[in-house]
Amino acid sequence: MDQLNFSGRVAVVTGAGGGLGKAYALLLGSRGAKVVVNDLGSARDGVGKSNFADLVVQEIKDKGGIAVADYNSVVEGEKIIKTALDNFGRVDILINNAGILRDKSFQKMSEQDWDLIQAVHLKGAYKTTQAAWETFKKQKYGRIIMTSSNAGLFGNFGQANYSAAKMGLVGLASTLAIEGAKYNIKVNTIVPTAASRLTEDILPPEMFQAMKPDLIAPVVAYMVHESFTDSGLIIDSTLGFATKAHLVHSQGALLRKKPSDPVTIESVRDNWSQVVNMENAQHIDKIAEVTVNLVEKLQV
Ligand code: NAI
Repeated sequence: MDQLNFSGRVAVVTGAGGGLGKAYALLLGSRGAKVVVNDLGSARDGVGKSNFADLVVQEIKDKGGIAVADYNSVVEGEKIIKTALDNFGRVDILINNAGILRDKSFQKMSEQDWDLIQAVHLKGAYKTTQAAWETFKKQKYGRIIMTSSNAGLFGNFGQANYSAAKMGLVGLASTLAIEGAKYNIKVNTIVPTAASRLTEDILPPEMFQAMKPDLIAPVVAYMVHESFTDSGLIIDSTLGFATKAHLVHSQGALLRKKPSDPVTIESVRDNWSQVVNMENAQHIDKIAEVTVNLVEKLQV
């Protein structure tokens, strides 16, 4: 069987000391990639440091792979990319995976809870990706993953800070997919659901046992392989299932009969059921399609 391999490629996986990141690092390491196993080693609320990364590096080496540990925070992402360049002389793959939680109902959410979540998830991905971007552009090759969440796409009680950051990552990926296109830089988003310390008290126990990060790692690995040419996708995966998510527009409604008529609050009310009617929804993949659709509607 033809096996996809990553030999000659250098992969940076952030937050790879445990959970999903560890599964990604082990899989890529077992398929020939040289891996930078980044992990600050904090508790799940972002406090403290430890050496999770060393253990993963050892596991990769024990299986004959090549890896190096990096303990920097993603908010100093340039240091993580430097680790890749210093040790392996290149970087080809970046999986932005590091994450923490500071769940609180919105009223009780402190500014610190807000800022820390934005810093690790959104700013961390920005800093690490921007540090790799120059190399990716120069070599006309790069594969990037952002990690979002269904809590971001759909909202989840007690996760206003996390939802905002996770949806922010979708926006970041969408624009980078456009900016990276002519340099063969592919930027995609994974929406995982897996057993990890982030979900141990959220998922029901029997589901927790089944939702192994190993079931998601091949999806992410495929999306960072050189043969993978899609970009700007949001892929939701869990339990050996994967599906694409994206935004759609309803057919919409004209809010006035002719251009010389005013739009009134009442005309909006009277057309509202058609505004939100999702029958025959239109799939939107590119910003230009929004304009094309609008022009078509206005000509009716
Ligand atoms: P995890 O807690 O096992 O892994 C996250 C890792 O990131 C930890 O090892 C932690 O030490 C590290 N980390 C935290 N702050 C860091 C920083 N500033 N710099 C570098 N490393 C840092 O959790 P899990 O579940 O594997 O999460 C991985 C990613 O997947 C996160 O972005 C999370 O938000 C996301 N996610 C996970 C879901 C799940 O069901 N497990 C659901 C949706 C999203």
